[in-house]
Amino acid sequence: MAEALKIPNHIAIIMDGNGRWAKAKGLPRTVGHTNGAKALQRVIEACKKFGVKTLTVYAFSTENWGRPKEEVDFLMDLFYKYLTNQSKKLIENKIRFNVLGDKSRFNKKTQDAMVELENQTKNFSEFTLNVAMNYGGHSEILKATREIAMDLKSGKISENDITEELFESHLYTSGQLPPDLIIRTSGEQRLSGFLLYQCSYSELYFPKVHFPDFDEKQIKLAIEEYTKRDRRYGKV
Ligand code: FPP
Repeated sequence: MAEALKIPNHIAIIMDGNGRWAKAKGLPRTVGHTNGAKALQRVIEACKKFGVKTLTVYAFSTENWGRPKEEVDFLMDLFYKYLTNQSKKLIENKIRFNVLGDKSRFNKKTQDAMVELENQTKNFSEFTLNVAMNYGGHSEILKATREIAMDLKSGKISENDITEELFESHLYTSGQLPPDLIIRTSGEQRLSGFLLYQCSYSELYFPKVHFPDFDEKQIKLAIEEYTKRDRRYGKV
């Protein structure tokens, strides 16, 4: 008899391979990103269907600003359009939306759209979509450290108050459980600073498929792989 699927509470995905997907088809990289955005919709629907509670996706790293200007401009436009065009659908589907990362580097209209969507969806609890944008694991840890140092300096807290719980409350994922399963598409086997603090006990899965080809079938394969892993009790 087939083993029942063990559904991860939180799946995180490094959406890699948009460029390679486009190149293999003789298309511009930007077409890869547009198709990556379409794949993201399929992945959200599949995760909801399987009963996953949180999906975190890596959309733009702090290093991605170093890409050619035309590509960065294209991605910024794609993100803005996503935030504005998808907001109705996210609200209808009761999806809580959060940005993980430093919003201050985005233009004003994008920052406003991010904050508005976060506010409009903040009371939904069934499903959470975290989109990491201008996110870096080192910067996140440094941000938490700086905030704690300031609270220590002002006397708001003492050294003994610095616990895992306190540290975690200063991360972008404050109040959320860490990812059970981290997927990086397109075959690279590294995390590139994604959820650096939160990934300590996550299962890792590196399928070869490029992100624009990701769909419900791929999510099912990932969950089947997760089900097979030997998860012993406790943090190991
Ligand atoms: C990495 O592939 C992908 C990105 C840097 C952009 C990710 C963005 C999307 C999937 C678009 C959808 C996201 C939202 C929030 C609308 P790559 O370009 O590095 O691919 P390569 O390694 O094959 O060149």
